[in-house]
Amino acid sequence: MRLPIVKLKGVHKSYVYGEERIHVLRGVDLKVGRGEMVGVFGPSGSGKSTLLHIISTLDFADEGYVEVMDTVIDPRRMGEDDLAIFRRKYIGIIFQSHNLFPEMTALENVYFPLLMKGYSPLRARRRAEEVLESLGLRDEIKKNVQYLSGGERQRVAVARAIAMGAEVYVCDEPTAELDKENALNLMEVLRALCEEGRTFIIATHDERLLPYFHTVYTLDSGVLKRKKKEVEHGENAGSSE
Ligand SMILES: Nc1ncnc2c1ncn2[C@@H]1O[C@H](COP(=O)(O)OP(=O)(O)OP(=O)(O)O)[C@@H](O)[C@H]1O
Ligand SMILES: [Mg+2]
Repeated sequence: MRLPIVKLKGVHKSYVYGEERIHVLRGVDLKVGRGEMVGVFGPSGSGKSTLLHIISTLDFADEGYVEVMDTVIDPRRMGEDDLAIFRRKYIGIIFQSHNLFPEMTALENVYFPLLMKGYSPLRARRRAEEVLESLGLRDEIKKNVQYLSGGERQRVAVARAIAMGAEVYVCDEPTAELDKENALNLMEVLRALCEEGRTFIIATHDERLLPYFHTVYTLDSGVLKRKKKEVEHGENAGSSE
């Protein structure tokens, strides 16, 4: 059994919208092991992003238990600053809406966070270039991201998260805007990181990614259900349980 580094038990989450309360997660249980690549499928509005926000400590369960990297995630126990430090240290987040700095180039979007992390300018530049090139963005490096296509912007956001390094990567539809070649190339880059022991939780609608997942779940009526996997990847494919 892989060492579990993400554990959720009985997680509930609802939102109040006007007069209505929308109960999005209704008792989600999940265990993800170190070095596991997990896919979460589910129709639009089923709560995939909500679940990822909770795992990435950007939002909190109303009820239930959340533990990431041996730390209980509870805003009553951790202040904003502790949570921000925790996220910087362990979590890589690739948002559905890329959250890039629109006035900067692709290179700068990856480079500046590395500088903030304490990299020297030379090292930050080399690292940013290397990761952007691995995602097929060599020719886009100097372009302002607002002039890039959706798929190119999506890859810049992935490059930024990878360059920064993390233990657990939480990715919200990372291939939604990519053609097959770029989607599969991106998954190969993620798979290499996974084989080094990094963990990935990926919300997606993209069936092309199925062969890459060790474990596949569907979010259905607020509950996470494990789907039987027919194709396992790599030798160390296995379950989290
Ligand atoms: N901050 C919020 N306030 C109110 N309602 C919210 C909030 N965030 C999400 N919701 C609602 O919760 C439900 C689940 O949203 P979520 O974004 O998690 O779905 P999703 O599975 O990621 O969908 P998609 O595939 O379209 O990205 C939706 O009905 C949404 O309107
Ligand atoms: Mg979503």
